[in-house]
Amino acid sequence: METNKDIKPENKADGNKKVVLSGIRSTGNLHLGNYFGALSKFVRLQDNYDCRYFIADLHALTTNPDPAQLHSSVKNILAEYIAAGLDPEKNIIYIQSDIPEISEMYLLMNMHVGIGELMRTASFKEKARKALGIISDSDEIEKEIIGNQSNQRVNAGLLTYPTLMAVDILIHKADYVPVGKDQEQHLELTRRFARRFNSFYKTEYFGEPVNFNFGGEALKVPGLDGSGKMGKSEGNCIYLIDDEKTLRKKVMRAVTDEGPKEPNSAVSQPVENLFTLMGLVSDPDVIQHYRDAYADCSIRYGDLKKQLAEDLLKVTMPIRERILDIKDNDEYLSKVVKQGAERAREHASKTLKEVREIMGIRPL
Ligand code: TRP
Repeated sequence: METNKDIKPENKADGNKKVVLSGIRSTGNLHLGNYFGALSKFVRLQDNYDCRYFIADLHALTTNPDPAQLHSSVKNILAEYIAAGLDPEKNIIYIQSDIPEISEMYLLMNMHVGIGELMRTASFKEKARKALGIISDSDEIEKEIIGNQSNQRVNAGLLTYPTLMAVDILIHKADYVPVGKDQEQHLELTRRFARRFNSFYKTEYFGEPVNFNFGGEALKVPGLDGSGKMGKSEGNCIYLIDDEKTLRKKVMRAVTDEGPKEPNSAVSQPVENLFTLMGLVSDPDVIQHYRDAYADCSIRYGDLKKQLAEDLLKVTMPIRERILDIKDNDEYLSKVVKQGAERAREHASKTLKEVREIMGIRPL
C-alpha cells in the first residue's frame, strides 16, 4: 500500500503551502480506477499542501446527462470523496457550479482560445467521433462535425471543455494538478492558455501548473473485461459502493484465458490485469504465490479470483460503510459544500477581479 512518507511539504515564495487542485466529473459513482488513480492520491496530499478538490458538474453537462441523475451523482460523489478519506476540514471541497466566478472566467478565457486547437484535442475528437458514430480515425472529423446536421450531439460545451478545465485550475493559481495520463493534454493546454494570456497582456499573472509526480509510473487500473483500463463507459468497473455479493460476482466473472499450457509461459493481458489489481490490494507473498503457480502451471484462476475479491473487499468495505453513513445525511453534506464554496469563492473572486482588471473590464 502507498504511504505518505514520500510526500514532502512544499511552500511557495510567500511561505504559504503550494496549491493542489483536482476534480472529478460527476457521472455515476466512483470506481476503483478513480480510487487508486485519483482519490487515494488526493488523500496523501491533504496534510502537506493547500488542497482544493471539486466535483465537476459543469463538465458533466457537456454530455447532456439526465438532470435527476446528474443531481444524485453529485451527491454520491461528494459522499464518496469524504468516505474515501478526504477531510473537509483539511481540504476545500466544493461543487464547481457553486462558484459562479468559474463560469464568468470561462467566458473571458474563451476569448484567448482557438477553435482549431480545441478541435484538435484528443478527448474532443474521441467524444465527437463517438457521438456521431464515426468509426475510422480519419482526420476528416472536423469536416464531419461542421457538416453534421444534428447540432445537439456535438455541442459547443464539449468543444470548450479544455477552457473550462483551464479556468478550474487557473482561478486557483494551482501549482499542482494531480491527474491521470488521459488528462495530460488538457493540462498542457492550460499551460498554453496561461502563457498566451500573460503574453497578450504583457503580464506574469498566471504560473504554469504541472501534474503531481508521485514518483514512478502513473498506474493504470485495469478493468475486469480483459481489455484496457477501468472506466464507467466500458462497463468493467468495481464501484466503491458495490456490496460484498456484487463485488465477488464481478471478480469471479472477470475475463481470463484457458490457463498456461507450458511452464514459464507469458501471461496474457486479461490475466496480467488480475495480477495488476492484486498488486494494488494484496500482500506481496500472496501475489508471488500465484505468480509461481502460474509459472508451474498449477494455477487455478478460481482461487486467484477468490483471493483477489477477498483483498479488494478489505479496501472497499470500510469505505462502503462510510458512504452509506454519510450519503443520506443531507444536513452534513450541505454544510460541507457550503463551507467549501465559501472558501473556494474567496480565492476565485480575487482571481476573477484581477483578470477582469487586466483585460480592461473596469468600473467606470
Ligand atoms: N477533466 C477531468 C476528468 O475528466 C475532470 C476535471 C475537470 C479536472 N476540471 C479539472 C481535473 C481540473 C483536474 C483539474 O477527469
